[in-house]
Amino acid sequence: MSKRVRKAVFPAGGLGTRFLPATKVIPKEMLALVDKPIIQYGVEEAVASGIEHIIIVTGRGKGAMEDHFDHSFELDATLERRGKSELLAVSRGVSSLAHISYVRQKEPKGLGHAVLCAKELVGDEPFAVILPDDVIDAEVPCLKQMIDVFNQRGGSVLATQTVEGPGISAYGVLAGSQDASDSRIYNCTGMVEKPRFEDAPSKQAIIGRYVLTPRIFALLEQTTPGAGGEIQLTDGIKALLKEEKVFGYTFEGKRFDAGDKFGMLQAMVEFALKRPEFGDKFRAYLKSLPL
Ligand code: G1P
Repeated sequence: MSKRVRKAVFPAGGLGTRFLPATKVIPKEMLALVDKPIIQYGVEEAVASGIEHIIIVTGRGKGAMEDHFDHSFELDATLERRGKSELLAVSRGVSSLAHISYVRQKEPKGLGHAVLCAKELVGDEPFAVILPDDVIDAEVPCLKQMIDVFNQRGGSVLATQTVEGPGISAYGVLAGSQDASDSRIYNCTGMVEKPRFEDAPSKQAIIGRYVLTPRIFALLEQTTPGAGGEIQLTDGIKALLKEEKVFGYTFEGKRFDAGDKFGMLQAMVEFALKRPEFGDKFRAYLKSLPL
């Protein structure tokens, strides 16, 4: 068994109902954040974290993602003929980003089930899971930070952030305590998917990045439907906790929920302000608005 984290699973079979009507035909993972589909941010983060093999779990109507990461012969040939070398490099760059495999999730049975669909492609080695809706802006890629923790501690690692108030009910929530030697690490003793505010065991919410040991697959196979009638990844990891160590990790960086309209707007503004080509112009425009 390889001990190195080489593979990353991207569950991308969801319906994207939070973003209707934009996602009626277009996969939510293909919505553009400034000028890049949101899934590409996750793929670039994985590659920058040392991942060599990307596994995208797709579903019906998600073909645009496969086309996006493939060579576009007609587009590339046209750009070449017109001498548009910079755009050609952008188009070719996307298709040579990483080695990508696809597997279909035939029924929308939940996040745990989506991860289980990647079992054969992952095999018997530790792997990452990236939820493409969660776009994370960080100096050191979030997944790289987590792989470093995995390599040091040797247990599964879940990205977390503190969520105050009733908003915690939208997340998987950890039970446990802060590590004595590293305040970014949380030693898990339990976890619950989308608890009621009154029942939340802590303010530590799971964010869409995981480094997991392959034992999770056997446990997901035994996981019965939980919150929302779906097979939950959180419930599988809760079972893993009985056998192995699991850590929460407060990453350095800022997370945006780009699967939600308001979260996407926030990401759009902040990512646009950082763009060297038009960041200053955009800042001046925002300042000129009668807010
Ligand atoms: C999923 C997970 C949840 C996690 C969240 C992070 O929920 O099930 O544990 O906190 O992602 O974004 P979803 O947002 O798919 O409902």
